[in-house]
Amino acid sequence: MLGPVLLAASRSDRMRRVVASAPVTRPVVNRFIAGDELHPALDTVRGLTAAGLYVTLDHLGEDVTDRATALATRDAYLRLLEALDADGLAGRAEVSVKLSAFGQSLPDGGHDVALANVRRVAELATSAGTTVTLDMEDHTTVDSTLAVLRELRHDHPGTGAVLQSYLFRTEDDARALAVEGSRVRLVKGAYKEPASVAFQDRRAVDKAYVRALRTLFAGAGYPMVGSHDPRMIAIAQELATRNHRAPGSYEFQMLYGIRTAEQRRLADQGERMRIYVPYGADWYGYFMRRLAERPANLAFFLRSFVPA
Ligand code: FDA
Repeated sequence: MLGPVLLAASRSDRMRRVVASAPVTRPVVNRFIAGDELHPALDTVRGLTAAGLYVTLDHLGEDVTDRATALATRDAYLRLLEALDADGLAGRAEVSVKLSAFGQSLPDGGHDVALANVRRVAELATSAGTTVTLDMEDHTTVDSTLAVLRELRHDHPGTGAVLQSYLFRTEDDARALAVEGSRVRLVKGAYKEPASVAFQDRRAVDKAYVRALRTLFAGAGYPMVGSHDPRMIAIAQELATRNHRAPGSYEFQMLYGIRTAEQRRLADQGERMRIYVPYGADWYGYFMRRLAERPANLAFFLRSFVPA
């Protein structure tokens, strides 16, 4: 019930000010975010990779409304990639980008602005020996994001993208992307979407997730299973066996701070396990989506308001 309210709040500037200024918010935010700055985030990456895990880093930010901020996002990613390269971390750490932070939603030529900005990031990623994955945002951005993916894959074939099983269109998109060299992270979807484009019922979203998983595992691409759901993980492992896929020809992905014991368990089984590590000062939208996903996360947040 509260999920849609929190997702609406995730786009409210007024709520942003209220939540961000509450002193108790910070410790809860820290559970999901690896710091406001690059350097603490790199410490986290070092710890995770030393423990045998893989990482994808997200410099937090979205819905940028001017070109200068879009360029600043691009530059933050360039600094991140330089640091990963210099620290010898690029073999195990890649980057995830939200195109809305690169200018995609600018009214005048946003798609081209985002493409030019992210192309520069993909170039540096390729020369550092790592990859870029395009996060997926609300349904109005999917065509543009998949078009950017096609463009980038010409010169940077390792570029990946995210598909969201709650969207009706995803079965077709998964089929189109289940091809040689294509990296697809399948998630359930984290935005508030209308019934005209997306399943509203959790069971329908789960069933669609399994259908898309089947398509991706049977295809020639590289499936990335982005879920904390034990049922989806078990089904993915079954599909890997059925399709004669060895670990390393697909991977699991989970968010930083969520189900860490399960992350460890899968890595110890020999699975490739990648952690999505967000960092940066603009954590509000990301944080609110995590609260909306799971009542226990919200309860944890609300409990922090009660004096011990
Ligand atoms: P879901 O929330 O449906 O929970 C199912 C079950 O999983 C629960 O009943 C419980 O058993 C278990 N579980 C979940 N969380 C748990 C916890 N904290 N502790 C214990 N058990 C727990 N979305 C998007 O729209 N665009 C994107 O680009 C991305 N990117 C992305 C990257 C990665 C690496 C991940 C893991 C996720 C995303 N997402 C995303 C978010 C995604 O769409 C989705 O909202 C969340 O992953 C939550 O869905 P789940 O499949 O994890 O389980």
